[in-house]
Amino acid sequence: MSDLVVQGTTLTAEGPEPIEIGIQDGRFVEPDGSVDRRFEDGYLLPAAIDAHVHFREPGDTHKEDIQTGTASAAYGGVGFACQMPNTDPAIADAEAYRRVANRVEASAHVDVGTWAGVGPEMECFELGDRATGYKLYSGPTTGDLLLDDPEDWIEAVERAAETDRPLAVHAEDPRILTEARRGEEDPQAPAAHARMRPPEAEVRVLERLAPRAASTGARLHAAHVSDPRTVEVMNEHGLTCEVTPHHVFLDSKDVERMGTRAKVNPPIRSPHTRPKLWDAFRRGDIPVFASDHAPHTLDEKDQPFHEAPSGLPGVETIYPLALARALAGNIHIERVLDACCRAPAELLDVPLGRIEPGHWANLVHVPEEPTRIGKRTMHTRCGWTPYEDHQGLFPEDLMVRGDWVLEDGDLVAKPGQGQFVGGPAWD
Ligand code: NCD
Ligand code: ZN
Repeated sequence: MSDLVVQGTTLTAEGPEPIEIGIQDGRFVEPDGSVDRRFEDGYLLPAAIDAHVHFREPGDTHKEDIQTGTASAAYGGVGFACQMPNTDPAIADAEAYRRVANRVEASAHVDVGTWAGVGPEMECFELGDRATGYKLYSGPTTGDLLLDDPEDWIEAVERAAETDRPLAVHAEDPRILTEARRGEEDPQAPAAHARMRPPEAEVRVLERLAPRAASTGARLHAAHVSDPRTVEVMNEHGLTCEVTPHHVFLDSKDVERMGTRAKVNPPIRSPHTRPKLWDAFRRGDIPVFASDHAPHTLDEKDQPFHEAPSGLPGVETIYPLALARALAGNIHIERVLDACCRAPAELLDVPLGRIEPGHWANLVHVPEEPTRIGKRTMHTRCGWTPYEDHQGLFPEDLMVRGDWVLEDGDLVAKPGQGQFVGGPAWD
């Protein structure tokens, strides 16, 4: 007998279809016994996975911490979030990694993984297959995790190839950034940020690393791609990449309107590039949708453009925005479920992303109609969203490994209900 049987309607390539699934010991099983919970309206869908978030703990918990970050994730239907290591101090060795795992077990509302940062000594690789994944920063951004020597990039690829874990790269060649900065006549102008971080900087890093990854078997993954040429390079070498909501839903016209709130690395690109990225995403050439949730407070953002920090919040809106686009007919629902659920599950090797026996029992119940985000309360500690004008289909209920996290729009999971999810060998 399963512990629980849930019934409702799901969305498939063929349209809405009835679904009934059992849940036992945190996993989906064949339904067995009577229905305990029937959802008369709305849709039951897999919960999302966000493979790229910044929860700022330790170091910058006035912006976010694991508890507030996972609350925000829950309200957006994300049952598993994988955080980046550019905290203060950085999560760059086994000890820091274990510390953060303990913090997750004490305070998270949903499951959390962590990309271990590649530092100059490369201690992170001592984690081997226990790391959720590895993260290489080839160019400067928030935090001080930076490896700017191409020889070190190659070494990181080779070290990652000795493990089964993915190596995500923040691709911006610092030499190209320096060159662009030198040629810039008005470095304090808002538009200068994008000129000083040109897409060539991204493309160049991956052109260098992708062939080496393909020949060594390293699972190289391009984080937050901002140019279609990067997508081509990754596709050519059979490697994965992700795009963010801000790179497909916003362009440089929005940056003019929103100012520093839309300042981010890599920068939001032109109205010419944005639709090309969106098309590559809709075709599936960009397999993964990831938010790069990078909370900064409005006080911090309220500075001259060249001084304001880069990054914008997004873990709470990524799945609702994508689902609303699917309901509006802008993208196929199957592509949204692939990019928000199945592909990130594959990237991170977790049995998630499908409402099918054997998978962890993570699901959302969403309404049939989206709402305008407007001034909707956001649960990230930074308290704002760049998507006020957009439609979002927000979940009313969220289940993670068989337990309710969100019920009727309220967070019911206790801090610590979330688990730390490392690589397959994590103990
Ligand atoms: C991120 C942050 O603030 O941590 N900022 C950003 O502009 N994306 C760091 C990063 O992912 O580059
Ligand atoms: Zn990031």
